[in-house]
Amino acid sequence: MQLWFMTGNKGKLLEAKHVFSPLGFEVEQFKINGEVPEIIEPQCDSLEEVANAKIKQGIKLLQSIGKGKDALLVEDSGLFIDVLGGFPGVYSAFILEKIGCAGILKLLENNENRSASFRASSCLWDGQRIHMGNGICNGVIFDTVCGENGFGYDPIFIPSDFLGNSTGEKTFGEVDISIKEKFSHRKKALDEILASLKNTH
Ligand code: IMP
Repeated sequence: MQLWFMTGNKGKLLEAKHVFSPLGFEVEQFKINGEVPEIIEPQCDSLEEVANAKIKQGIKLLQSIGKGKDALLVEDSGLFIDVLGGFPGVYSAFILEKIGCAGILKLLENNENRSASFRASSCLWDGQRIHMGNGICNGVIFDTVCGENGFGYDPIFIPSDFLGNSTGEKTFGEVDISIKEKFSHRKKALDEILASLKNTH
């Protein structure tokens, strides 16, 4: 089955492919006239609300090109740092562009409390109804930018699943995607969607 993912983020696309392809889904970036459609994100502090707004606009766009029966996936995600009251949260993409991982490390300089979480809310339109999934990956912000893998804040985030075990204290930027997707917020959100799909079909 064809599954369109409405995202401009190649990292998100790759992770979604890894989850859905083994189940027989053909995952592709959703584009109209060669461009990922621009959508209006509401100003709010809830990932779920943003994901809901994205899917509603996405469905209208799918229908407008006569593909309303195809499946469509959207996601809103972010990094939530406890000592910063959840910042950058829903503003993660914007803040990454403005200050980068190094800027986040600067904000946390001399701070012992480095706990944080990645969170994702995903919505999938199956051609008839919307399925929602949420995922959280807890961890800490490392002291330096470390690793070339992944995207976004991956090089400064160590998931708690790695802390103190045999894989060492590695950031998501240092490990292969096959390891990241075992713990990631995205994988958990997509797993919830898969469970919901199984219940309805
Ligand atoms: P949005 O969902 O398009 O608003 O973007 C979410 C932003 O959060 C991304 O651009 C990244 O900066 C960050 N982010 C979300 N998930 C991840 C992840 O798995 N690794 C690293 N950064 C992430």
